Amino acid sequence: MTRLPALLLIASTGLFGLSVAAAQTPPPLPAPAFASFAVPPYKNLKIFPADVTRDQLLSNMKFFAQSLGVRCTYCHVGEEGKPLSTFDFASDAKDKKLVARKMLAMAHRINSQDFGLTDSSKLKVTCFTCHRGSTHPLTAPPAEDAAPAPAKPERA
Ligand code: HEC
Ligand code: HEC
Repeated sequence: MTRLPALLLIASTGLFGLSVAAAQTPPPLPAPAFASFAVPPYKNLKIFPADVTRDQLLSNMKFFAQSLGVRCTYCHVGEEGKPLSTFDFASDAKDKKLVARKMLAMAHRINSQDFGLTDSSKLKVTCFTCHRGSTHPLTAPPAEDAAPAPAKPERA
């Protein structure tokens, strides 16, 4: 799997630049605990650029979690409720993390090849585009969203 250019991967702060603390609420993280996890250098990045900043990486991680409606433990080894500093974020033990890497590459391909994008502030397709807060994107509109019946019956 090839690394992606930072350009397309790290979207504008408008899209990804949210506080990572909120992804883990409740409970809110006390400031010292918050600073003591996920500090570079990162050990196992295969897609994100090697020089990704902590803010960029964590903004993207929070974005993943929100887009799928999950928490960090969905992809990462760690015990829910324990401080994030006890998590092993570099581990590839969870299958979902491996799928997420493929999804990242796919989203990058769609944006760069199909939409011809070179500007990360204009991303067309993100995790949320398909996932909408669920791990299983829908393949058809829900029944209640079907087109409404015409107001008046058509007459010949
Ligand atoms: C949908 C899956 C998914 C979720 C949810 C997720 N991550 Fe990640 N995380 C990944 C993937 C995939 C990578 C590896 C990216 C790469 O290879 O470049 C990664 C890498 C990381 C790394 C770098 C570890 C290293 O040293 O290599 C940290 C730190 C991290 N994630 C923190 C978090 C935090 C904190 C959360 C919760 C807010 C979170 N992640 C939620 C998929 C996820
Ligand atoms: C083009 C649509 C699309 C985009 C964009 C997309 N996904 Fe997915 N993703 C899917 C589909 C479809 C599945 C399969 C779900 C199923 O099996 O029901 C899936 C499955 C997954 C799974 C495995 C879920 C499971 O229960 O096994 C993970 C994790 C995941 N996606 C993460 C991501 C992340 C992270 C991103 C953004 C980098 C992303 N996806 C972007 C369509 C998409």
